Amino acid sequence: MRMAFVTTELAPWIKVGGLADVSTSLANTLSALGHTVQVLIPVTGVDCPPRSAGAVERKGSIGQSSLIWRSTRISNNFEVIWIGGAGFSDRDGGPYANSFGEEWPDGVLRYGHLCEILARAWIPQKNEWGPRPDLIHVHDWPTGLLPLWIHKLGIPIPTVLTIHNLAYQGLFPHEIFERLDLAPEFWRAEGGIEFYGSGSCLKAGLIFANRLTTVSPSYAREILTPAFGNGLEGVLRGRARDLTGILNGIDSDCWNPATDPLLPVRYDASDLTGKRYCREALIGQLDLSESSGPLAAFIGRLTEQKGIDRLVEIAPRLVSRGWRLVVLGRGTSDAEQRVADLSRHHPGAIRVLTEQSESWAHRIEAGADLFLMPSRFEPCGLSQQYSQRYGTLPIVHAVGGLRDTVQDADQDPCGTGFRFGPDTLESFFSTCVRAEQAWRTPERWIALQRRAMSIDFSWQRRVRAYIQIYEDLLSKRGQSPS
Ligand code: GLC
Repeated sequence: MRMAFVTTELAPWIKVGGLADVSTSLANTLSALGHTVQVLIPVTGVDCPPRSAGAVERKGSIGQSSLIWRSTRISNNFEVIWIGGAGFSDRDGGPYANSFGEEWPDGVLRYGHLCEILARAWIPQKNEWGPRPDLIHVHDWPTGLLPLWIHKLGIPIPTVLTIHNLAYQGLFPHEIFERLDLAPEFWRAEGGIEFYGSGSCLKAGLIFANRLTTVSPSYAREILTPAFGNGLEGVLRGRARDLTGILNGIDSDCWNPATDPLLPVRYDASDLTGKRYCREALIGQLDLSESSGPLAAFIGRLTEQKGIDRLVEIAPRLVSRGWRLVVLGRGTSDAEQRVADLSRHHPGAIRVLTEQSESWAHRIEAGADLFLMPSRFEPCGLSQQYSQRYGTLPIVHAVGGLRDTVQDADQDPCGTGFRFGPDTLESFFSTCVRAEQAWRTPERWIALQRRAMSIDFSWQRRVRAYIQIYEDLLSKRGQSPS
């Protein structure tokens, strides 16, 4: 099959969250299976795309548009097509926000026009990058208007939309709608993109993509309810037959403690001595003081979704039990401020790194004992999978993909982590205490670590569900969307 992904994040070049890792590792897995994958991605930030050594680069332009296209071949059948030009590569910042974390005011307009140009100029014909794709797979709100354009122009190529996070919807006022060249008939609540007085890019995708997926089976069920549906639960229920939850896999070559070049010492399940060394090295690098308690980590966006505020709330109680904490990530300025204050009040016990760093992420995953994910909701979550592979047992709120990838060691004979619910601070805290008790029982702990490290979180099995959807769509090609 020939598939085109349209996405806004691609590790290691453009990364805000897990979407970056998933775009790259899913494309890699599909291409390794012999499929041809082209990833189209708007370039954000002036340093992108990288002019990496050995990359095959070509330039081209389409129509009258000022966009610049350049391609980099990652492998024989995996090609990245970078789309740059006005509004994208000529400004610093990320795909959704500028360098100060302020959302781009013209984000919807830029992504809307990009979708139109892709649908009008890139997709319909054979172009200089080869024959047109068999199907288009788009990701999250910035690409939500593409299925609408494909439908509107009657292009007979099926589309799949993956929801990585329903909380981000790309809402916009009517005056932007007027600048998006869309016929007025699309501005309606029933079967259109109007959403409580605004337009919604994500809703456009939910209505017009042929198939919908999201990143875990539990989240696929949760988003049909008002508690997790962000107001779109009705639309999603209307399309429930076309919606599938598929767990994200991880890149198990990149996240492998036995070969990870970023670690001071490598280790595997048969010999965890290296992990102890990684722990000592990490404590030293972070300048944490000696203690008799566990070392716990939080890595992720510092946002309400991820429950960073909850960690801030219970952290002093954990520290008073001898815990050491490390937090790695960027976030809202309010959240960054709160974690900075926290570490100032607990020097030596809590270390905060407000940056995004793969190198720190790997060393922390390897050196920590416990990994904290008190997310309010979590479509899938990757870090709890990375951490299990590194023998760092996760403490998670039993929600979404966390529920699907972490079983509780006190409740399940195959458990490799600790789950809390109901969604309260007390239950989070008491679960941390349970985890601490397990950690203080070395034989049991090592057995749990070994079990966690032997779980297969790779894409190899999980990718089959995507291939099944693609094949279904191709076998129905020509039929109109349901
Ligand atoms: C978003 C979600 C996260 C998911 C990732 C990749 O970042 O918040 O749960 O793992 O997308 O699908």
